[in-house]
Amino acid sequence: MGNGIDRAVSADWPYPQLVAHRCGGSLAPENTLAGFDACVRHGYRMVEFDAKLSADNQLFLLHDDTLERTTNGHGAAADYAWAQLAALDAGAWYGPQFAGTRLPMLADAAARCARDGIAANIEIKPCPGRDEITGRLVASGALTLWQGQTPPLLSSFSFDALAAARDAAPSLRRGMLFEEVPADWLRIVRELDCVSLHASHRHLSEPLVADIRAAGLRVLAYTVNEPARALLLAQWGVDMICTDRIDRLKPDMFSAPANSV
Ligand code: G3P
Ligand code: MG
Repeated sequence: MGNGIDRAVSADWPYPQLVAHRCGGSLAPENTLAGFDACVRHGYRMVEFDAKLSADNQLFLLHDDTLERTTNGHGAAADYAWAQLAALDAGAWYGPQFAGTRLPMLADAAARCARDGIAANIEIKPCPGRDEITGRLVASGALTLWQGQTPPLLSSFSFDALAAARDAAPSLRRGMLFEEVPADWLRIVRELDCVSLHASHRHLSEPLVADIRAAGLRVLAYTVNEPARALLLAQWGVDMICTDRIDRLKPDMFSAPANSV
């Protein structure tokens, strides 16, 4: 890459190539334990999910800042104590067969990872203004909850959240999340001591992936739902593919003959 910072990617990398987005991709209500069931059915060994804090600082899974899209609640999630959030229905929006599905706590996700032998990419998704405390509590919580398991990979779009995670649990691997990789990506990942860079596949190119890997970082591409695109990204050197279509991207697709996917 011509700037003298080339270094080898670490061989110490315990994660598989395919990661189910928001627990079960599009096959289950997002960020719920039902997604783990879908993963097991499709042979997936790793999930990504979004973690944030309730008003009383309990760690739970939810993507949005607000409750409307994926629960029967209303308003900002950060305004509610966990006891109130725990009573919400987080499955009926997706389909009647999932009515009664609850929002999981981070501890519930850790227990399912242990039970099913699934690794986790915990995306720290702070509610507005809560970056530092969310990063700190997710990281310290993950360190405790994943003891004896493959350590989770932490990621975030929030620099402040990942910095707090680094300080709270330096031993956990961190990945910086971007939609489009900015020009100063190397400074950012070095400052956060990241081992990976996560980006929208739409903004990745073969030379950019080569540059990131030459800097010693693993690459995760999201959200990739076409097998041909996943294979191309893997050829470029992308290490992990995060997908909604766990039914379409098969766990053996990178070793299978090209015409069998
Ligand atoms: O970590 C990859 C992906 O989850 C980032 O985007 O919005 O789905 O959390 P989002
Ligand atoms: Mg996410």
